Amino acid sequence: MNANQNILKDETRDLERAYTRALEDYLSEGGEDALRSAYEIGRATLADGLGVLEIAAMHHAALAQVLQRRDPSASLRQDLGRAQEFFGESLSPYEMAHRGFRDAISALHRVNETLEQEIQRIAHAVHDEAGQLLTAARLAMSGVAHDLSPSLRERLQEVGTILDQAEKQLRRLSHELRPTILDDLGLVPALQFLTEGISRRTELSIRIRSSLEGRYAPNIEIALYRVIQEALTNVTKHARAKNVEIQLTNVAKNLHCLVHDDGVGFDVPSVLSSKERSGLGLVGIRERLHAVGGTLQIDSMVGRGTELLVKIPVEK
Ligand SMILES: Nc1ncnc2c1ncn2[C@@H]1O[C@H](COP(=O)(O)OP(=O)(O)OP(=O)(O)O)[C@@H](O)[C@H]1O
Ligand SMILES: [Mg+2]
Repeated sequence: MNANQNILKDETRDLERAYTRALEDYLSEGGEDALRSAYEIGRATLADGLGVLEIAAMHHAALAQVLQRRDPSASLRQDLGRAQEFFGESLSPYEMAHRGFRDAISALHRVNETLEQEIQRIAHAVHDEAGQLLTAARLAMSGVAHDLSPSLRERLQEVGTILDQAEKQLRRLSHELRPTILDDLGLVPALQFLTEGISRRTELSIRIRSSLEGRYAPNIEIALYRVIQEALTNVTKHARAKNVEIQLTNVAKNLHCLVHDDGVGFDVPSVLSSKERSGLGLVGIRERLHAVGGTLQIDSMVGRGTELLVKIPVEK
C-alpha cells in the first residue's frame, strides 16, 4: 500500500468515527445539527471518491456500534426511524450528484443531436456550395483559355487539375461527414468508404470483418458509424498504430462491434479519471451508445494496443 492510500484510509477512518458520533447524537437527541453533520459527512465521502455501497457499509457498521451502546430502555423503533433519516441525509449529496449526472447526460444528448444536424448542414454546404464554386471557377477558366498563349494555357490546365482534385477531396470529406451511403446502402459499405479515405490519408491499414446481414434502425446505424469514426480518429491521433481491425457480429439480440488497433495503448483508468481530462471523444461515444441502450468496454494497456467493444441491443 502506498502513502496516498494510507492517507485515504486515515481520512476514511476519521469520517467513520465522525459518522458514528453524529449518528449517536441524533439517536439520543435528534436535532438539526446532527442531521447537518450527516449531510456534511456525505459531502466529504463523495469528495473522497467513496461510493454509495461504501457509505451504506459505513452506516451499517456505525448503527451496529451505536445500538450496542444504547440504553436498553431506548425504543428500537424510534432509533431505527431516526437512523433512516440520518442515513437519508448523508446520502443526499449522492442524490444531488446523481441528478447532476442525469442532467449532464441529457444535455450531452441534446448537444449530440445538434452536432448531428450541424454536421449534416456543413456536409451539404461543402458538397453543394463549395462544389459549385469550384465548378464555376472551372467554367470561367475555360472561358479565358482560348485567349491565352499555348504555354499559359498549359499552366491554366494545371490549375484546373488542382481544382478538380480539390473538388474530389471536398466531395469525399462531405460524404465521410454525413455519408449518404449510410442511408442508401447501410453500415458496412459506409464504413468501407470511411476507412478507405482514412487509409489513403494516413497509411493506416484497416480491415473490416462483418457477418452482419440486412439493415438496422437508422439511429443505430448512425450511432455506430459515429462511434467507429471517433474510435478511428483516436487511433490516428493517439495510437501510432499500423493496423486496425473492425469486427461486426450479431450475437443473440445484440450487435457487437470490436475496434482493435496495434498501437501504443493507454492507461484507461487514469485517463478516464484524470481531473485535467479535456477530451470529449470517449464521453461522446458513451453518450451515443447510451441513447440507443448500448455499452462500451475499453481494453487497453500501454504498449499493447487498444480494443473497444461496443454492444447494442437490436431487434431485427
Ligand atoms: N486508440 C487509442 N490509442 C491510444 N490512446 C488512446 C486511444 N484512444 C484514446 N486514447 C487516449 O484516451 C484519451 C481520451 O480520448 P478522447 O477521444 O476522449 O479524447 P481526445 O481524443 O484526446 O480529444 P477529442 O476526442 O475531444 O478530440 C486520449 O487523449 C488518448 O490519450
Ligand atoms: Mg478523441
